[in-house]
Amino acid sequence: MTILIKGGTIVNAEQSFRADVLCQDGKIVALGETLERASGTKLIDAGGQYVMPGGIDPHTHMQLPFMGTVASEDFYSGTAAGLAGGTTMIIDFVIPNPQQDILEAYHQWRGWAEKSVADYTFHVAITWWDETVHAAMETLVRDFGVNSFKHFMAYKGAIMADDEILVNSFTRALELGAIVTVHAENGELVYRLQQSIYEKGIRGPEGHPLSRPPEVEGEAANRAIRIAEVLGVPLYVVHNSCRQSLEAITRARNEGQRVFGEVLAGHLLIDDSVYRDKNFDRAAAHVMSPPFRAKEHQEALWRGLQSGNLQTTATDHCCFCAEQKAAGKDDFRLIPNGTGGIENRMEVLWEHGVRTGRLTMNEFVRVTSTNAAQIFNIYPRKGSISVGADADIVVWDPAATKTISAKTHHQKVDTNIFEGMKVTGGASHTISRGKLVYSGGELDVERGAGRYVERPPFAGYYDALKLKAKHSEPVAVRR
Ligand code: URP
Ligand code: ZN
Ligand code: ZN
Repeated sequence: MTILIKGGTIVNAEQSFRADVLCQDGKIVALGETLERASGTKLIDAGGQYVMPGGIDPHTHMQLPFMGTVASEDFYSGTAAGLAGGTTMIIDFVIPNPQQDILEAYHQWRGWAEKSVADYTFHVAITWWDETVHAAMETLVRDFGVNSFKHFMAYKGAIMADDEILVNSFTRALELGAIVTVHAENGELVYRLQQSIYEKGIRGPEGHPLSRPPEVEGEAANRAIRIAEVLGVPLYVVHNSCRQSLEAITRARNEGQRVFGEVLAGHLLIDDSVYRDKNFDRAAAHVMSPPFRAKEHQEALWRGLQSGNLQTTATDHCCFCAEQKAAGKDDFRLIPNGTGGIENRMEVLWEHGVRTGRLTMNEFVRVTSTNAAQIFNIYPRKGSISVGADADIVVWDPAATKTISAKTHHQKVDTNIFEGMKVTGGASHTISRGKLVYSGGELDVERGAGRYVERPPFAGYYDALKLKAKHSEPVAVRR
C-alpha cells in the first residue's frame, strides 16, 4: 500500500514543520512541501492536523496470567484498541513463573503475541535466579533482540525479585549491554501491611492503597537506584506514582546517574478517592499497583514530566473485568491488580498536557513515543517521522472531541478508568507499518499483521561503562 499524507504539520520531538509524507512498503520514503500523488496512491487529507510518530506504550500486559486469572485484553484486541487511540507499538512483558525456564516463557509470550495487529516487543522479567537464567539472558540479548530486563520488587511469594536477584541480574545485564527496569515497591513491607490491615478488619478495596503507601515505593526506587549506581548499570523505573520515587530519581539524575522514569496516564489524572467508593465494582476496577495516590502526587508527577526527570508515559494496560475483580470481594488482597488505558493514553495526555500548556506538542511526542524509542534502542526506526523510519504514524485532529466511555471504547474490559472524561484532540487516522488501520472512527486491522521488533543491546556505550564501573566484578552464581 502506498499512502500520501497531504497538508499536515509534522510534529517530531525536536521540531515541527509543514510537509507531506509518502509511505511505501511499510516505510516513510519521502517528506516534502508538496509531494505529487501517483496513481494508485491512497490520499489522506491532513489539512489542519498534526502528523506525529505513532505512540509507543512501553508498559502493557496483554493476556497476562496473574493472580489466579488472565487479563481480559489479549494481544489482538489490545493492540487494536491502541491503534484506535494512535498507539502503534507496545512493549509488553514476558513474566516467567518462579522456576519456569526463561526461554520457554519467552517463546510462550511470542506465541501469544502472534495475533497482534501492531508492532510489539518484550521486556523479560527475571523472577528467580540460577545459572540457567544467567545463560538465558545472553541468549535473549544475542539471539532474540531483548535489551531490557524487568524486576518486580513487589508481589512477595510470587514473582518478587529480592536484593540477591537484583544484584545478580543487574550485573549480568550490564555485561550484556541491556538496561534493567524495576517495579519499585518494597514487597516485604506490602506483605506486612496487607496482613495487619486485613487483621484490623479492613477487607474492601480501601485497604489496597493503605497497604501500599508512597514510602514503600520511594524506598524500593531508591534501593534499586543505589544498587544500579554501585554496579554501574542504567536503570528504568516503571510506573512512578508518587513524589517519593520521583525524588529518588531526580536526586540520582542530578548526581549524573543514568536513571529513567516512566509515569502512567492514570497516575497523572486519577486520585485515591476512587478506593473510597462504596460500590465494590467501581472501587475494585481501580485496584492496581502502585495505587492511585492523593492529589498532591499528581502535580509532582506532572512537574517530573515537564522537567524531564520522567521521560516516558505508559498505561500498564492490564485489564480485568468485574467478574474477575470479584475474586477479592471479601479480601482486597485477592483483587487482581491492574487497569487499562492503551486506547486513551494519547488523548488524555493531549487534553491535560498540551491543552493545559504543561507540555508543548513536541514534548508530547517526546513523552508518548520518541523517548521510549530512544531509551529502548529502536530510534529512529520508531518514534520519528523521518525518511527510512517505519510508517507508524498518527494523524492528530486537534479539534476532535469525545467523551471517554467503556460503552464506546475498543478495549476488551467492562470499565474505563477515564470514564466520562471529555477530551479535545484525537487520532483521525492511524497508519501501522504503512497500512491505514484506523480512520473515520473505524478500525481496519488484520490479525497477525503486527511484527516482533528486535532491540539491539547498547554495546559500545556499555563497554565504556564496564571499564568505568568500580564494582563490576561478576557476582558468583548460586546453585
Ligand atoms: O497492578 C498492576 N500494575 N498490574 C500489572 C502488574 C504490574 O505490577 O505492573
Ligand atoms: Zn508493576
Ligand atoms: Zn506492569
